[in-house]
Amino acid sequence: MKILICDKTEKEYIEQIRAAGLTVDVRDDITAEELPNVLPAYDGMVVRSRTKVRQPLIDVCPNLKVIVRGGVGLDTIDHEYARSKGIEVINTPLASSASVAELAIGYMFALARSLYKVTSSMKAERWDKKLFEGDEISGKMLGIIGYGNIGKETAKRALALGMKVIAYDPYVSSLNGVKLVTFDELLAQSDYISLHVPKTKETANMIGSEQFARMKNSVRIINCSRGGIINEDALYEALTSGKVAGAALDVFSEEPPTNWKLLKLDNVIGSPHIGASTKEAQARVGAEVAAKLIEFAKSMQTA
Ligand SMILES: NC(=O)c1ccc[n+]([C@@H]2O[C@H](COP(=O)([O-])OP(=O)(O)OC[C@H]3O[C@@H](n4cnc5c(N)ncnc54)[C@H](O)[C@@H]3O)[C@@H](O)[C@H]2O)c1
Repeated sequence: MKILICDKTEKEYIEQIRAAGLTVDVRDDITAEELPNVLPAYDGMVVRSRTKVRQPLIDVCPNLKVIVRGGVGLDTIDHEYARSKGIEVINTPLASSASVAELAIGYMFALARSLYKVTSSMKAERWDKKLFEGDEISGKMLGIIGYGNIGKETAKRALALGMKVIAYDPYVSSLNGVKLVTFDELLAQSDYISLHVPKTKETANMIGSEQFARMKNSVRIINCSRGGIINEDALYEALTSGKVAGAALDVFSEEPPTNWKLLKLDNVIGSPHIGASTKEAQARVGAEVAAKLIEFAKSMQTA
């Protein structure tokens, strides 16, 4: 099988794939314009979040048998269409859960103690001791929207820190000690809301002005899932009116954003989609990509 690696993948795992007898070419800077000319010669491709695989690309690659996405979200791939064409679409659902959960928890501490503002004040050589009274996260109610792999990892850590945890997820029934509530109950009861849903038609803009109105005053919001799940204009309004005390955003409706107004607010902290960017998660992603690709190639030989 001939595989095209389209995004950054650690060398060690590329070598594992080669050692299993697959032919691998690395074009980890390939552009969207080049792909339709290059990809038709391959049986499989490995992508991260940079390379998008849309229907027109799939249509010009009749030989493509497998798309391996290193990471969780399949919103960068027209996966249902690919599967309808007989292409296997594989992701690495567990590899980055702990890293994303740790970022969400880190953001809760940063919001509770205004660590970003404290740090800039110190860098400006000020000793604003009286300005920065924060609050403890222990004893506060965390509402988790989407109780999948990352939601669960976040809940586990929050419970260990003494938080109370509730979750909203219409597709799960067992929550291992965490109370399952309705969407409205979650909005009304949470001091912190952390989003961990996939981006779908149903979840796009699931938090807008109507939902902000139903939240507690001074709620804090963390989004390490996907941009566009929170309506950014409504969030801007809620942050400037004081309804929302603070927001931490790892993801944006446009990445990188062309409009940075949210990030300019004093009560917003952000990062450039780095939830899975840890050495540990990257190694797990690489190992899982190699293992799954090799397993797929073997299944093709025996089929
Ligand atoms: N920031 C990052 O770098 C980063 C890294 C990895 C994953 N993510 C994102 O984090 C999100 C969660 O990932 P995961 O691995 O936990 O996925 P997962 O599939 O394990 O969990 C998602 C959960 O959301 C639930 N869900 C679906 N629609 C819902 C809805 N309308 N309302 C409430 N719940 C709903 C599902 O039932 C599922 O339990 C995804 O959007 C993923 O793309 C971000």
